[in-house]
Amino acid sequence: MSEIKTIGLLTSGGDAPGMNAAVRAVTRAAIYNGLKVKAIYRGYKGLITGEIIEFKTQNVSNIIQQGGTILKTARCAEFRTVEGRKQAYETLIREEIDALVVIGGDGTLTGARIFASEHNFPIVGLPGTIDNDIFGTDSTIGYDTALNTIIEAVDKIRDTASSHERLFFIEVMGRDAGFLALNGALASGAEAAIIPEIATEVDQLEDLIKNGFRKSKNSSIVLVAESELTGGAMHYADRVKNEYPEYDVRVVILGHIQRGGSPTAYDRILASRLGAAAVESLIDGQRNILLGIDDDQIVSVPFSKAIKNDKPIDPELLKVLKVLSI
Ligand code: F6P
Repeated sequence: MSEIKTIGLLTSGGDAPGMNAAVRAVTRAAIYNGLKVKAIYRGYKGLITGEIIEFKTQNVSNIIQQGGTILKTARCAEFRTVEGRKQAYETLIREEIDALVVIGGDGTLTGARIFASEHNFPIVGLPGTIDNDIFGTDSTIGYDTALNTIIEAVDKIRDTASSHERLFFIEVMGRDAGFLALNGALASGAEAAIIPEIATEVDQLEDLIKNGFRKSKNSSIVLVAESELTGGAMHYADRVKNEYPEYDVRVVILGHIQRGGSPTAYDRILASRLGAAAVESLIDGQRNILLGIDDDQIVSVPFSKAIKNDKPIDPELLKVLKVLSI
C-alpha cells in the first residue's frame, strides 16, 4: 500500500449545514499529521475539470459557523459515465492526490464507491445531507440543523394555525426518507407525520381521521415528507378538501430554507469528529468506507453496505408521536 502524502477533499450533492465544519476538520487534521490538502471545487465536476487549490490552515478559518459549503457543490451527471470518471482519475494523478475524502449524501457515496473500485483509489466518505438517509450512521451532518429549522418554522405556523383554527400540511424535505418529517413532528408537537416508509402499507390520512385528530383541538399540524410515495402536502390537502370538506386546510412547503443556516453545536461537533477521523482512517490504511456515528462512537461502514441498505425508520417513534398527539 503506497503512503498517503496528499488528500483531496470535496463536497458534493445537496449542501448541508456542517459541511464547512467537516472541511475545516479534514484540512486541519491532515496538516497536523504532516499531509497536504487539496481542495476540489464543485464536487465531482471540479474533479473532472481540475478546479483544485492547495489549502493551508488559514483557508478554513472562520468557517465552522457558516452554513453551505465554501467548496461549492454540484450534482454531476458526467461523473456517472465511465469517461467522466476516467477524466477525474487523470486529474488526481496530475495533481498527485493519493486519497480522497468526499462529503455528501447517497448519490455522492454511490459515485465514490464506483470510482474507488474502477480505479482502485482510496476514498473515505463522510455523510453530509440533511435527509439523514444514510445507513450505518445515527445521524448525518446537517440533519440536526435542518430539524431545528423545521421546528422553528412550525412553531411560527402554529400561531396562525391556532388563531384561524386551521389544518396545516407542512411539507419537509427528505427525498425518499421520512426522518425529517417524523422527528420534526415529534419535536414540534405536530399531530402526525406522513412518511414514505409506510406509504404503501397504510392510508395515513384515513389513519389520522380515524384516530380522531382535531376533535379536542382548534388547529392541527401534519408534517408531510416530500416523496412520490406520499404525494406531498398538496396531495393530502386536495384529498382533505374533497373527502373532509369541513376542515379549513392550508399548505406550506418549507423547501430550501431547510438546507441553510448556521449549523447547530451537534452538527459542528459531529462534522469535526468525522473530519478528523477521516484523516486518521486514511493514515491507518483504511479505504472505501463511510464514517458515521453509532452510540456516540465513530464507526466505519464499507461503502457497499452503506449504499445497499435502506436506513429504517424506528417504529417506536411513530408510536410515541401517535400517543402524544391525543
Ligand atoms: O438531499 C438533500 C435534498 O435537500 C433533498 O431533501 C431534496 O429532495 C433535494 O436535496 C433537493 O435537491 P435540489 O436542491 O437539487 O433541488
